[in-house]
Amino acid sequence: MKPLIAPSILSADFARLGEEVESVLNAGADVVHFDVMDNHYVPNLTIGPMVCKALRDYGIEAPIDVHLMVKPVDRIIPDFAKAGASIITFHPEASEHVDRTLQIIHEHGCQAGLVLNPATPLHYLDHVMDKLDVILLMSVNPGFGGQSFIPSTLDKLKAVRKRINDSGRDIRLEVDGGVKVSNIGEIAEAGADMFVAGSAIFNADDYASVIQTMRDEIAA
Ligand code: DX5
Ligand code: ZN
Repeated sequence: MKPLIAPSILSADFARLGEEVESVLNAGADVVHFDVMDNHYVPNLTIGPMVCKALRDYGIEAPIDVHLMVKPVDRIIPDFAKAGASIITFHPEASEHVDRTLQIIHEHGCQAGLVLNPATPLHYLDHVMDKLDVILLMSVNPGFGGQSFIPSTLDKLKAVRKRINDSGRDIRLEVDGGVKVSNIGEIAEAGADMFVAGSAIFNADDYASVIQTMRDEIAA
C-alpha cells in the first residue's frame, strides 16, 4: 500500500488551524491526524467533534484520522462520524466491549482501528483482525506531542506486520509518536505504512521539504 504521511495537528498553531491544515496538505500530506484527549484516559485535553466539523466546513477534503484517547469511547463516535471523520481509532483499555466499539464505528460509515500503547500486548488483536481497517501502534505514551520514539516499537511493528500479512487483509499499519526524518526509514522497514508526525512537521519552517524528505527516507 502507498505510504501515507499523517501530520498530527496537535502541534499545529490552533489559532490558525484551518490554514495550517490547508498548508500541510498543500505541502504533500495525505491524511489529517486528529488527536482527541479527554483529561481522563490521558492527562491532557484537546479538541472534539466541533473542530472536526469546522475543518470540513472550511473546505478540508482529505481523510481525517480521528485518534480517540477518550474513556468511555462509544458515545462520542456518532458525533465524530457526523462531523466528517474518515477513520476512527480507539484504545482497547478505553472500551468495555472492543468488538462492539468497532461495530459502532463501521455502522457510522467510518473505517475502524485499534490503538496499542507501548505496553499494551498484541493479543488484543486476536479475535478482531477481520474487523480492523487500521492498527495503530503508539511509539510514545499517549497524551503529548514532542516525546521521543520508544525503540521497542520496532520489534512490535515487525510482529504486527507479520500478523497483517498472514491475515491476507489490507490493514493499514500506522505508527504515532516521535516519528522524525531521522528514524522514519527504519520505522518503514519494520513494516509501518502510515506515519503520524506532529512536532517533526509543524515545528519545521518548510512543511513540504520535511514531508518530501520523509518520503525519500521511506523509499530508501
Ligand atoms: C500523542 C499523539 C500524537 C502526537 C504525536 O498522544 O497521539 O499524535 O501528536 O506528536 P509527535 O509527532 O510530536 O510525537
Ligand atoms: Zn495521535
